[in-house]
Amino acid sequence: MKLNGFNKIKTAVFISGNGTNLRSLIKYSLLRNSKFSINLIISNNYKAKGLQYGNRFKIKKKIINYKNVKKAEKEINKSLKENKIQLICLAGFMKILTKNFIKKFKGKIVNIHPSLLPKYKGLNTHKRAIENGEKFSGCTVHFVNSKLDSGKIIIQKKIRIYKKDTPNTLSKKILKQEHILYPKALTKIISNY
Ligand code: GRF
Repeated sequence: MKLNGFNKIKTAVFISGNGTNLRSLIKYSLLRNSKFSINLIISNNYKAKGLQYGNRFKIKKKIINYKNVKKAEKEINKSLKENKIQLICLAGFMKILTKNFIKKFKGKIVNIHPSLLPKYKGLNTHKRAIENGEKFSGCTVHFVNSKLDSGKIIIQKKIRIYKKDTPNTLSKKILKQEHILYPKALTKIISNY
């Protein structure tokens, strides 16, 4: 997977919901110096708000029916191949990828998670961090392995939790940082290719 100075790394973003991280990745990818392009959006949810960015920025979209995981991943595989995708970014993708799929794309799938991993894997991270009286939380971009939110950490951003913070205010603050952190993480890993 060589970056030859002209070609940007072809990237697919997997979403299930709002897609604000997708939007920030697209915006960054359009900068002249960016090392990646967003060529494909995959969603398991045809109602995902983030799909609008596919239309707005003229990026291919693929909606995947997840009733049968095996079939779903087969279809995803096909789409990735057709679009010569080199890197996969999970951004609020609410489906678990199978071990087989992850193995196939080893070292080429990354995820963004709204906590300072290894703390608070899984859902409701902000609520749990506040309830535990944490002084800091944040966000992490990491490689995906077969254990949930457990792959090698690429980059993190720490955020102070104040007494007045609620899960809602904290999530807004962290999401804003996610939008900066994700493109930074991609730039970092691509530089190491
Ligand atoms: C983000 O908080 C991300 O860390 C988590 O899901 C959320 C997705 O938000 N994995 P959005 O769809 O990118 O707005």
